[in-house]
Amino acid sequence: MKNVKDLNVKGKVVLARVDFNVPQKGGVISDNNRIVAALPTIKELIGKGAKVVLMSHLGKIKHKEAPEVVEEQKKKNNMAPVAKELASLLKGVNVSFVDATRGEALKNAIEALNEGDVLLVQNTRYEKGEEKNDPELSKEWASLVDAFVMDAFGSAHRAHASTYGVPAILKEEGKQVAIGYLVEKEVVALKRVVDVPNEAHPYIAILGGFKVSDKIKVIDSLVKKCDKVIIGGAMAYTFFKAKGIAIGKSPCEDDQLDYARKMIATGKIVLPVDSVIADDFGNPQDIRTVDVEAGIPDGFEGMDIGPKTREIYAKEISTAKTVFWNGPMGVFEDDRFALGTVAVCKACAELKGAFTVIGGGDSASAAKKLGFKEKFSHVSTGGGASLEMIENDGHLPGIDVIGE
Ligand code: 3PG
Repeated sequence: MKNVKDLNVKGKVVLARVDFNVPQKGGVISDNNRIVAALPTIKELIGKGAKVVLMSHLGKIKHKEAPEVVEEQKKKNNMAPVAKELASLLKGVNVSFVDATRGEALKNAIEALNEGDVLLVQNTRYEKGEEKNDPELSKEWASLVDAFVMDAFGSAHRAHASTYGVPAILKEEGKQVAIGYLVEKEVVALKRVVDVPNEAHPYIAILGGFKVSDKIKVIDSLVKKCDKVIIGGAMAYTFFKAKGIAIGKSPCEDDQLDYARKMIATGKIVLPVDSVIADDFGNPQDIRTVDVEAGIPDGFEGMDIGPKTREIYAKEISTAKTVFWNGPMGVFEDDRFALGTVAVCKACAELKGAFTVIGGGDSASAAKKLGFKEKFSHVSTGGGASLEMIENDGHLPGIDVIGE
């Protein structure tokens, strides 16, 4: 696959799709990791004398909502603070921001660029057509640039206008398209958890987190590739219910109960034996530890894995030669429910000679918060993307479109 370093782009307008979907509140960015991770590619393009145009989405904008709701979502997901952060990371570079996503304003801002300048475009999701991969929108964006670099690993599982439509058009027109350094690094590392040779087994996957519906589908692929799939976080309760265990008011995917039973029947799923539970998610007053077999009482919900489970999971993990971890074991932001995540994170960090990967957002933040991030072989910038890469045997639309 063509890499950004192979491009001949002096004086050319290069669109780099980056993933600057960073956590921010009131204009303050709490984790700039994704911006930092894209810098090698941006610097390479600056060094080559390109006129660099950066596009990214930020948050979710639901265009089907009422206009005032959409406006509110746009305000919340304005890219301006990201431009400020980028400028502070690229000292000495002329970094500008255009509060437009198409039309004359965007065209003029691009035309005003000199070699080595960087322009960040407003949130691509301000456009209704972005997530639909609208051909008109892709055509307009493609018409403004001479070349394209895909460096948004975290968005590579989305076939949207900015991740798929634009490079597809440019490629057809014979223009230069390439992957960036971040995507290259991610692909090399993640291939090691997609195709795992015998000598790199035992291969253990650890799945947790709050978002269940997307992740639960990946278990099917993981049980085929892994020796064990350790389950924690919100997903565990669907499995408990599938086994006929009471789960109180814990979250559950009722339409996945049969699937959960099928997964349990593979013999590879490892489930918690005890849970830390509480009476109220937002304001826990009564906190208890219960054995799973006894069930979670009515009015309570699971918040973390319990002490026996922590020990069992740490022991399982200690046997691994390859680990893929996505999602915390409990509500780790609250210290009272962080012990499960700490135990898992520590067990991975203590492995010697193993290849350990963290796939994405919350687990990466947890490892960072707990001071273990540097101990992992690879910390992916993409949560959904890393899971889909495993699910699709190494393929993602936003990378496949770049082609050979
Ligand atoms: C992410 O944060 O996982 C990526 O930026 C993709 O975001 P999305 O799930 O809103 O497409």
